[in-house]
Amino acid sequence: MSRLVSKQKLLQYRPENLFADRVGSEGISLAELAAELGRGRSAVAALAKRVGDGEVGFARLPLDRSTLAKVQRFARRWRGRYRKVLLLGIGGSALGPLALDRALHGTPPLRRKDRPELIVLDNIDPQPMAVALASLRPRETLVLVITKSGATAETMAQFLVVREWLSSALGKRSQERIVAITDPERGDLLRLAQQEGYERFEIPPNVGGRYSILCPVGLVPAALVGIDVARLLQGAAAMTLLCHPAERDDPRQNPALLAAMHQYLLATRHGKTIQVIFAYASALWAMAFWHRQLWAESLGKRVDRSGKEIFAGQTPVAALGVTDQHSQLQLYIEGPRDKTITFWDVEQPGPRVPIPKTFSSYDSLGYLGGHTMGELFRAEKAATESALTAARRPNATITLPAVDAYSLGQLIQFLAFQTAYMGELWGIDAFDQPGVELAKRIIYGLMGRKGFEEYRARVKQG
Ligand code: PA5
Repeated sequence: MSRLVSKQKLLQYRPENLFADRVGSEGISLAELAAELGRGRSAVAALAKRVGDGEVGFARLPLDRSTLAKVQRFARRWRGRYRKVLLLGIGGSALGPLALDRALHGTPPLRRKDRPELIVLDNIDPQPMAVALASLRPRETLVLVITKSGATAETMAQFLVVREWLSSALGKRSQERIVAITDPERGDLLRLAQQEGYERFEIPPNVGGRYSILCPVGLVPAALVGIDVARLLQGAAAMTLLCHPAERDDPRQNPALLAAMHQYLLATRHGKTIQVIFAYASALWAMAFWHRQLWAESLGKRVDRSGKEIFAGQTPVAALGVTDQHSQLQLYIEGPRDKTITFWDVEQPGPRVPIPKTFSSYDSLGYLGGHTMGELFRAEKAATESALTAARRPNATITLPAVDAYSLGQLIQFLAFQTAYMGELWGIDAFDQPGVELAKRIIYGLMGRKGFEEYRARVKQG
């Protein structure tokens, strides 16, 4: 793996404000952490075994050079032949690609003539769908249908509508404008793609939706809109080296394990049932929503591996600095003591935007002139962190060196490992989603899918 890793700055995890010496009994004590070192070691061993056995696949995605090469070849082949990429998918099949595009191209993305635009239809609300289709031209559009199961009602319905839209304009030639990204062994999308001759990319069977951002689910759309997917994987590989090998079972050497142990202790010993991701970078806003799904769906579990009811989970909340200082912060500082805050910020200063020294005789303006917007932004983050700590609200900070593909790769893999370790510490399966699956079956029943009549009856009775 080391060949893939370049010597570049790594993200920093700063947990000091989670500890009792800063926030009193609301925070973690060193003794508590020391008492759980054995549990941490077991978590690393258990995950390493699951990866080694081929049961869990996300950890090895940064090493998959043949998929990377295939994705890059595909993007090169299509360059200049499309202006819009229309992505159909939901949950893990949409949030990752959206997060990458928004982080690197702006929220909303800045339109540029030399770069295709990514449109993600991650909802079936007919209004945005109709607006999107009305604004697109079939001849300029490449359609990505992404679904691991190849059967999700929302995505399949979108697919039927968009396929019709394309084929009524392009006839048989519409087939070459549809790309299917799905499981290589099962599902109706796979069968359809084979039947219709669509270009196809595989989601490895051992990689679940919310852990799939570094496989073709994230890589294909990213490459098509000009993101450096090789650097993304290099960043992820660098983080994997730090967080995965079985011998890195001491939290002092393994930042994702350390961060997982912190959240585990806060949730189970200190009543911190909510984790607020407070992103001090608009670029990371969509990434916070990708993380929200990862954390919620992976850890929100009724039973542990032995079948005992434990109702595990920590509710993820996304907040944006500084906007939410004027919306949420009051609650975080004075409301129920059920939250831990994780700031995300970025070391590299953004563009220099000086604040003019005009109206300097006015008290509320004079002190601002001569500073930059970046200085004000950083000062506000420091002030929020300090106020939360003074109010004995545990908080930590993850700092990215920059908002670029390499740093995002690190962040993604750090958060995936943290989530997986959190699942092991809790003794739950962080890779299934039985609650969501039940809801999917009920939708099939309500919409009249054969074989799901029993689920329709359940809702009628309820
Ligand atoms: O993480 C998961 O597995 C889910 O959230 C899925 O991503 C989501 O339900 C969509 O499923 P699919 O990709 O099979 O359409």
